[in-house]
Amino acid sequence: MTNPDPFNKQRLKHQHNWVQKLSDCQARMPASSSMIVEGKITRMVGMTLEALGCQAAVGVRCEVESLNGESIEAEVVGFNGERLYLMPTGSIHGIQPNARVIPSSKIYEVAVGDNLLGRVLDGTGRPLDGKGHLNTTETVPLTGKPINPLNRAPITEPLDVGVRSINSLLSIGRGQRLGLFAGSGVGKSVLLGMMTRYTTADVIVVGLIGERGREVNDFINNILGEEGMARAVVVAVPADQTPVMRLHGAFLATSIAEYFRDQGKNVLLLMDSLTRFAQAQREIALAIGEPPATKGYPPSVFGRLPQLVERAGNAEKGKGSITAFYTVLTEGDDQMDPIADASRAILDGHIVLSRELAESGHFPAVDIEASISRAMVDIIDKEHLRVVQKFKQIYSTYKKNEDLITIGAYTAGSDSRVDQAIALHPALMEFLKQDMDDPTTYAESLQRLVEIYELMEQTQTALQTTDPFAPMPDQDAANGATTTSTASDEQDNIANPAGVLLP
Ligand SMILES: Nc1ncnc2c1ncn2[C@@H]1O[C@H](COP(=O)(O)OP(=O)(O)O)[C@@H](O)[C@H]1O
Ligand SMILES: [Mg+2]
Repeated sequence: MTNPDPFNKQRLKHQHNWVQKLSDCQARMPASSSMIVEGKITRMVGMTLEALGCQAAVGVRCEVESLNGESIEAEVVGFNGERLYLMPTGSIHGIQPNARVIPSSKIYEVAVGDNLLGRVLDGTGRPLDGKGHLNTTETVPLTGKPINPLNRAPITEPLDVGVRSINSLLSIGRGQRLGLFAGSGVGKSVLLGMMTRYTTADVIVVGLIGERGREVNDFINNILGEEGMARAVVVAVPADQTPVMRLHGAFLATSIAEYFRDQGKNVLLLMDSLTRFAQAQREIALAIGEPPATKGYPPSVFGRLPQLVERAGNAEKGKGSITAFYTVLTEGDDQMDPIADASRAILDGHIVLSRELAESGHFPAVDIEASISRAMVDIIDKEHLRVVQKFKQIYSTYKKNEDLITIGAYTAGSDSRVDQAIALHPALMEFLKQDMDDPTTYAESLQRLVEIYELMEQTQTALQTTDPFAPMPDQDAANGATTTSTASDEQDNIANPAGVLLP
């Protein structure tokens, strides 16, 4: 039998060859490569770029071609139908209509290594200090790897932060996350600097997010100095950087802290400030059309805060820890600011700096009445806790009656509590004060607290026979208190270094 259509045979052969060639090409392509669909910029409003035609997921990095063929990096922050919204990470100069948008398949990664110590980086992780190449050894994701909350080690060990009032009255546990609430100019930066220089943490990571450029310089050169920088990594993203970069800066600092934590180190992460981080997210969300809610903050802001804060804390048992301080600006010293309110709810305590104290030259201006460390009860022993409570009661009694006392309207002898508070006030204030160049350890802080306790006993004996602040007879029983301490022997020694029998 002869072939009825010789051309068909020829066509089939041709077709077969094509299929064969295409499959050869496909086989030569790396398995991971997926097709990249480019698009173009159709609109730009403020910092928001709109692109049509390209396919990319939220969080993906894109290159936008600008004048002279240079490219500008932008991140996909949202979409509407086929339209993608992008936010640049750097300057937007030179972007023109119909500019090419080339999505990358890369997720944001951070190059890390032990050599980062002593270095100052920008929000992308590049060095800012002119000390040359970084010599990093590995990369970690910018958004971190989640830890199962059930596997996290509990907070049980105190961390020496080198500040007497915090060590003794607001003891911080390794893996605890705290807010530092204050208005501007009341000593946040100096306090963070003191912690960086005097803490016993192995590594300190400082994120300077959205502050003024001059402040960054001042913090690194004057407050930290060489001594502070030796064990520290600083990520600096000043206020003139784009909102995406400010968010990245905060995530980058956290990723670096996670790297050292995963090596078993105790890391102290200091983020200044969480408010500027929230404001960066607000700028992005409003620009892509999210409706504002509380005080102009769209709901996504309140979702972003825990995404950052939850990454700090303890790793699994036997690994390291990240103890974190996030400064929260209380503008006009308004404690009810929505960011302050939201932060208070997601952090394990807050330290409030008082403008009144700062103005009277009392530094660090820690308001011990308004501050609380929620993990404190788990890390200190009962005796220590009782002295702290007594300290706060005496301090508070003085504060409540301060106006009467200062105008001379209080008559000595009318209330034994007030008499004791007046007698002890100078000693308590002296105890709370600490010069920025005066280091102190956890043991020394507790030693000073023991001395204050002895003074309390003495004034009490001098004024009268009964303790005006003594708990009601059945109060201990009502609290279910037992006399056995939960802390380890070693901790007991630290908690009571002088071996003095606390009450
Ligand atoms: N521990 C301290 N000892 C002495 N002065 C201090 C102390 N802490 C803060 N100050 C003073 O307060 C000023 C403002 O502090 P700063 O930390 O820059 O405030 P903030 O960061 O809250 O704006 C400093 O310039 C310094 O004069
Ligand atoms: Mg400051």
